[in-house]
Amino acid sequence: MPDLLPMLGRTHGNRSAVTCALKCDSACARPVPNLSTEPTFAAVASQALVSRRAVLVGGAVAAAAVAGPQLLGLPEAAAVEGRPAPGERAVRGGFSFTPIAAVSDDVDAMTVPRGFSWHPIIRWGDPLFHDSPRFDPTQPDADAAERQFGYNNDYTDVIVTDRRGRKALLCCNHEYTNRQIMFPPTTTPEAEADVLRALMAAHGFSVVELERRGTRRPWRYVQGARLNRRITATTPFLLDGPAAGSALVQTAADPTGTRVHGTLGNCSGGTTPWGTVLSGEENFNGYFVADPAAPGSARYGLTDKPSSYGWEQVDDRFDATKAGYANEPHRFGWIVEIDPTDPRSTPRKHTAMGRFKHEGANVRVDDEGTVVAYMGDDERFDYLYKFVASKKFRSGKSAAARRHNLGLLSEGDLYVARFTGEQRPDNANLGTGRWLPLVRDGRSQVEGMSVEEVLVLTRLAADKVGATPMDRCEDVEPSLKTGKVYVVCTNNTDRGVKAGKPGPDAANPRAANKNGHIIELTEAGGRGDAETFEWDLFMVCGDEGQAGTYFAGWEGPVAPISCPDNIAFDSRDNLWISTDGQPGSIAKNDGLFRVPLAGRERGHLVQFLAVPVEAETCGPVIHDQDGSVFVAVQHPGEDGTWAEQNSFFPDYVSAGERPRRGEWRGPRPSVVQVVADR
Ligand code: FEO
Ligand code: CA
Ligand code: CA
Repeated sequence: MPDLLPMLGRTHGNRSAVTCALKCDSACARPVPNLSTEPTFAAVASQALVSRRAVLVGGAVAAAAVAGPQLLGLPEAAAVEGRPAPGERAVRGGFSFTPIAAVSDDVDAMTVPRGFSWHPIIRWGDPLFHDSPRFDPTQPDADAAERQFGYNNDYTDVIVTDRRGRKALLCCNHEYTNRQIMFPPTTTPEAEADVLRALMAAHGFSVVELERRGTRRPWRYVQGARLNRRITATTPFLLDGPAAGSALVQTAADPTGTRVHGTLGNCSGGTTPWGTVLSGEENFNGYFVADPAAPGSARYGLTDKPSSYGWEQVDDRFDATKAGYANEPHRFGWIVEIDPTDPRSTPRKHTAMGRFKHEGANVRVDDEGTVVAYMGDDERFDYLYKFVASKKFRSGKSAAARRHNLGLLSEGDLYVARFTGEQRPDNANLGTGRWLPLVRDGRSQVEGMSVEEVLVLTRLAADKVGATPMDRCEDVEPSLKTGKVYVVCTNNTDRGVKAGKPGPDAANPRAANKNGHIIELTEAGGRGDAETFEWDLFMVCGDEGQAGTYFAGWEGPVAPISCPDNIAFDSRDNLWISTDGQPGSIAKNDGLFRVPLAGRERGHLVQFLAVPVEAETCGPVIHDQDGSVFVAVQHPGEDGTWAEQNSFFPDYVSAGERPRRGEWRGPRPSVVQVVADR
């Protein structure tokens, strides 16, 4: 294996060194790929901002908020007393919960509120088909892995498919793998090649049918169900849109430039109004060896060093320096669209939506039927984008409407965001912004670049038009009730720190932004195709007593939160926020939080659950009217080894009990349902 630990110890990016190496090719240890040096609006000098909150709330409350029993190492759910969730009693359905306290980052347990239970619905390695082999990590095998649930579940949706609410489709990404804890060490190159192929097969995407005996009951997955499907790093995809077939995406193996094998680095995503699932190919650069002098290599973090995963040892196309493969990296970094209702459909990669480190894509249809997808590029100082489809959404369930809607993301306009605004002492910042066109009406809007170049080398195009460098946009999701868009910036510890890089600005207000923030964006006229917007800071994360935190003006106690990542909305339009990086930033296990977006309680953040040691909270899916919350527990026990595992999630023998001699147990990333006790 290549050097996996260039960032040994807790990294300045907040994650463990192992997670950094595997998930994003240690991006934080490498130079920032955005070489633009000019911030696009006046950088405000870094200053110690003391928020009004910090003065009002003070440290005593902050200390009380974390002094739960978890700090004593108790694995049981523990609650902060008091505070019923806002607005509960007035609303039918939904649920109340007593918030949990933050959980210390050495606790290997799922922590959920009192009165709730958690159940793994499906785990890495669970068999999906009637002929799937049983899970046996001592025998790494690609054929087996292709027929089992993949590793490191990330984007998740649970789509109920029948009127009685007893059948559903689970759709789930498998972002990356951790060879060191998944499989035993090998002693021969042949055996290690088998491991590499098994890892390729554990990537990608799963569709799994679920069933249950009644509403408000746990779901279970159905082995051998008709719609069950695995998509892996070798599954055939169709490249579509304006850059498909261009010279930039042709290889010796695919002179048509339209047929790609596999998807990888699939991080977040979104479910479309027409029932397909979108998935973002994020840190694809870590899978390739490439010519560092090739156009775009530096900007996309591609190098000629051995890749983090070593797949070039078993599949030549991952070495783009080899004859015929120079363009293979151009065939990754896209938004992919998968139809979970048709297991024989060929999934597609949409070049019209641009190529960058796509976190995900979330679609809204506005009142005029305009289809807009919001997308973040998750890299320090990279950008926020939107895609506006050329054609309008067609409602109804006819075959013609379905065919039409399946083509919506193949053609449209691509924009990148520029923010302007005012930085206030209490971080109640707000301002306006403009969507700068990159492609419009089928024509490039970027001087010196063709449409194909803009779409394949989108970062270079966005640099040229003066987009605003952001603090790592993760999920970007519109509320389907209000149309407001929530832009989650997870962190950027380089802002205002690295020479030549932008300092704080109104939309990215903190130097060395370790804890992240969330921007609330309102399109002009509520239109998906608006060219301007207004925005405000919704949340500047951290421990509530910290200087510079801001919770939408809420001045009571809040849960400590850091590194917001994926978000979701519940039936009452509360925002739910999952985190990735709290162990490194505030020494707490990552969690899931809820915050009202409107009303008297706007900004009142509470914590719903915490995931086990070294795990990240992904998903999430909120079926509050059904008493359920789903999370994908990703990379539990990430820093362990095959011989010395750090987590035993989710198959704890019993709290605190270690496996018997000779019995292998270790962490299995799983999709978990948290359900109110009956
Ligand atoms: Fe895979 Fe941007 O998190
Ligand atoms: Ca993410
Ligand atoms: Ca993340």
